[in-house]
Amino acid sequence: MTSSIYQARTFPKDFLWGAATASYQIEGAIDEDGRTPSNWDTFSKVPGAILNGDTGEVACDHYHRVPEDVALMKRLNLASYRFSTAWPRIRPDGGKVNQAGLDFYSRLVDELLEADIAPWITLYHWDLPQALEGQGGWTSRDTAYRFVEYATTVYDELSDRVDNWTTLNEPWCSAFLGYSGGQHAPGRQEGVAGIVAAHHLMLAHGLVVNELRGRGATPENGKSLGITLNPTVVDPYDADRPEDVDMTRRIDGLHNRVFFEPLFRGKYADDLAADTEGLTFQGRPWQDWVLEGDLEVISAPLDVLGINFYFGNAIAAKPFEIDPDQVLGSRLVHSDLPRGNPYPGAEFVTPRTGRPTTARDWEIDPVWLTRLLTRLNDEYGAPPVYITENGAYYDDVVEDGAVHDTARLDYIDKHLRATLDAMEQGADVRGYFAWSLLDNFEWSYGYAHRFGIVHVDFETQERTVKDSGLWFADVAADNRLPA
Ligand code: NOJ
Repeated sequence: MTSSIYQARTFPKDFLWGAATASYQIEGAIDEDGRTPSNWDTFSKVPGAILNGDTGEVACDHYHRVPEDVALMKRLNLASYRFSTAWPRIRPDGGKVNQAGLDFYSRLVDELLEADIAPWITLYHWDLPQALEGQGGWTSRDTAYRFVEYATTVYDELSDRVDNWTTLNEPWCSAFLGYSGGQHAPGRQEGVAGIVAAHHLMLAHGLVVNELRGRGATPENGKSLGITLNPTVVDPYDADRPEDVDMTRRIDGLHNRVFFEPLFRGKYADDLAADTEGLTFQGRPWQDWVLEGDLEVISAPLDVLGINFYFGNAIAAKPFEIDPDQVLGSRLVHSDLPRGNPYPGAEFVTPRTGRPTTARDWEIDPVWLTRLLTRLNDEYGAPPVYITENGAYYDDVVEDGAVHDTARLDYIDKHLRATLDAMEQGADVRGYFAWSLLDNFEWSYGYAHRFGIVHVDFETQERTVKDSGLWFADVAADNRLPA
């Protein structure tokens, strides 16, 4: 642990400390109380799609363990718990309201409030009813309207007790990994379909913001509305190679500005159009799916912005000569499915730069987080930010009832310091949620990739607080990083 070289550092009063999860990753109970299949139930059954053939069928069995898990949160001194509600429980098949599904979340909220933990709801963390996926999923505009029905159902049921509302989690992943690269459900690899899906996701977001404002979701009423994005930080691998510089701009466009510009400026950037010229979805350019008035809806002002941050990348444009082993991620085989390029039209590689990596082969450089937070503030005048996820995968082992995950602890410590650095440079950051409360179903990596600050034995469902969790509990209680 290197934290001893640092000074102790204190956070502002009222800084919010929490941990996060997502419905499909922890709940299990996939066919209980009226829930119908989601796109991830379908995708995880595709042979070879998920490492070890894992599915979310049981996951952390959280559906049956709410009291135990809330007690854990209390032990970790969390002031807030960020979780997502499952659309297929609440409006099975995207259709009529299922009260039993709502009741589960209502019980969870009551349990949290009883423990003095503020619930923070994400309305969409990737589990779309399969029935809607079958009708085109996010490439269909209708899905956005169905999302409004579902979101208002949840809001009407829980807003008497829940103040913090996030529309979408990481729409980049839903759109581009889902419809361009195929790494995520539904596994489609259709080029600029990712941009069409991103547009519909953002439309869904904007429609819900407007609808909930109309239902009294305003700061004056103690409510806060936001979205969680996962922007990346990219640099040219070789700053003297013009192709790398241009490709870096392009990736920034397809990962970051494709969301920043509509959200904060009510438009799509001109270079996105130029970079994707000639690419079509169903024979038409993606702009054909952007209808008049959409951008005004999408750019509705927000109260907060959620940021999930894990890693950045150096970008080298192809053709680029490199030993395949020196490309990040090349040593991780996590799927038998052929994977596509999630960035339509952009041919590049992400070479190793020599920075340390997590076990996922994500390079670590906390300065990336400082840069991202200051950029959002300086370039886009972003609303107050909450880090809604940050954390790391390492291969943890339980030894004598303990998990000595020093590397994860160090990762979180450094990123919290990087957050404070950004705040000193003017970024308005109000809270931090560790990803994740529990080891869980890590999407295409199944249960093999552990991100929890609490270990889960998936055979016995036993929970063991890791050293990072014990440390985080002290940080949250003291509102301060130790020296
Ligand atoms: C971001 C996603 O929101 C979450 O679901 C995922 O588990 C983490 N990244 C780690 O990959």
